[in-house]
Amino acid sequence: MHQSLSTIQFLLAVSFVITICRGDQCKDLLMGQYYCDDPVIDIETQAEVNCREDTHTTEVSCKPAEEIICVDFTGSNRTFNGSEVGFYKNVSCRWTNGYHFETSLLLSIFLGMFGVDRFYLGYPAVGLLKFSTLGFFFLGQLVDILLIAMQVVKPSDGSEYVIDYYGAGVTKVSMNTDTYIKPPDSW
Ligand SMILES: *[C@@H]1O[C@H](CO)[C@@H](O)[C@H](O)[C@H]1NC(C)=O
Ligand SMILES: *[C@@H]1O[C@H](CO)[C@@H](O)[C@H](O)[C@H]1NC(C)=O
Ligand SMILES: *[C@@H]1O[C@H](CO)[C@@H](O)[C@H](O)[C@H]1NC(C)=O
Repeated sequence: MHQSLSTIQFLLAVSFVITICRGDQCKDLLMGQYYCDDPVIDIETQAEVNCREDTHTTEVSCKPAEEIICVDFTGSNRTFNGSEVGFYKNVSCRWTNGYHFETSLLLSIFLGMFGVDRFYLGYPAVGLLKFSTLGFFFLGQLVDILLIAMQVVKPSDGSEYVIDYYGAGVTKVSMNTDTYIKPPDSW
């Protein structure tokens, strides 16, 4: 009895300490207590700059709201004024590697019967097959046009198409506990 009580007390104490420590870190602030900057968009690739190839994420700076006290990324405990960076956060981004959507689609439409679109996107085996069968007698060419147009078939290196940032890109929309509604710029 005495043993189990002290175990419970110990666990309570540990979780109490963990709660205190976690609550002090700026990166553990709750939604609405901070605002993260939008990623910078590269004109050339029409995607976020510094998008990492391996994780498809980029770092953005986040600013705790006015009057919030927390431990920032340098380890100093201070009060924020609403425009100072408190921590950095990884957000997902589109990693591109120079494959243009328009180019792929045009190659598929006009040269797809020779498999040129597949060679361009990095699928030489399918490309060769299409080349030697005249695009599976044009049927495979038609299928590929549709697959590329719907962005089901993407470059083989795992990159996303270079496509206007506000263009007809396909984004799978999902929500989780990190989802927040971006306030309008006038706030
Ligand atoms: C940070 O400062 C606040 C008040 O200024 C204090 O309550 C809190 O315990 C401090 N946190 C750390 C980790 O020093
Ligand atoms: C917040 O503090 C920074 C310096 O730490 C200063 O440059 C900035 O003007 C301040 N912003 C406001 C809104 O007070
Ligand atoms: C973001 O991800 C990279 C690579 O996984 C990592 O090195 C970096 O520390 C992360 N940054 C933050 C703020 O979590």
